[in-house]
Amino acid sequence: MINRTRRTRSSQIMRDLVSNVNFSLDNLIYPIFVEEGKNIKKEIPSMPGQFRLSIDNLKEELEELKNLGIKSLLLFGIPEKKDPIGSEAYNDKGIVQEALRFIKKEFPQFLLVTDVCMCEYTSHGHCGILKGEEVLNDETVELLCKIAISHVKAGADMVAPSDMMDGRIAAMRKALDNEGFINIPIMAYSIKYASSYYGPFRDAADSAPSFGDRKAYQMDFRNSRDYLIEARNDIAEGADIIMVKPGMPYLDVVKTVSDAIDLPVAVYNVSGEYSMVKAAAQMGWIDEKKVVLENMYAMRRAGASIIITYHAKDIAKWMGI
Ligand code: PBG
Ligand code: ZN
Repeated sequence: MINRTRRTRSSQIMRDLVSNVNFSLDNLIYPIFVEEGKNIKKEIPSMPGQFRLSIDNLKEELEELKNLGIKSLLLFGIPEKKDPIGSEAYNDKGIVQEALRFIKKEFPQFLLVTDVCMCEYTSHGHCGILKGEEVLNDETVELLCKIAISHVKAGADMVAPSDMMDGRIAAMRKALDNEGFINIPIMAYSIKYASSYYGPFRDAADSAPSFGDRKAYQMDFRNSRDYLIEARNDIAEGADIIMVKPGMPYLDVVKTVSDAIDLPVAVYNVSGEYSMVKAAAQMGWIDEKKVVLENMYAMRRAGASIIITYHAKDIAKWMGI
């Protein structure tokens, strides 16, 4: 036999020597849910280990995250009041804006990313404003720009629009530039599928649509040809990072996109992916730590620079920093 591929797997040192995919905390963004109100610390039932926190309870959590070596956060807000036009999303005194000010002041070392969307703020739970049952594209884009600007004014280091309206990246780039924020990057949720894997998140953020679904704006997973169009449109419109979401069931997409484009690729290891791992681990059916790390390597191997994951805190503890 000439080819014995086992030769380079024969010892730990040899395996380490030939490995070419790496993974560290530097690659991770940790999502957090901030709720308007006082003294709130509610565990999200379908996402064990994840909490909704009010600003007065953030300090302790951020202290822990800092000590664990987590460097980047993705902020989601849960407002007290919702209305049809999602006013709280672009209120300068809104929950995300206040959380940004608090974190920037108390913990300036974090890189703060904000999810820019309307579904947590609209009474109907859709990602934009409605006319009848239709989500209006261009009118929503104008509001998304307002949201992004109010986030950046309050301290966001990067904005991540997740709405899936057409043309929002170009509009947001222009709006940010007009305000002088020429160096604030946009991480575009470019390739975002209408996925049932977001179920636990919608419980976490109270953002399920009250009627219908998001299929008229999020993507159809039954198509293998349309996703590069989304990536290329967003690149042409000025996106700085291209995101694919969900993660694990879409690694074919991550791989193709990362081979096809030169910008950094992010992958969102979403709520449902997290819940499935946690549930199986709680049943004692899988080795949680090993499965999670294997998943992280899989996403890195597919070409993702950045992984947004609820497992970040556990990973940090396992990696013992
Ligand atoms: C808001 C948004 C969602 C997620 C991120 N931003 C929900 C949705 O589109 O319904 C999902 C995150 C997750 O499931 O972890 N549009
Ligand atoms: Zn949304």
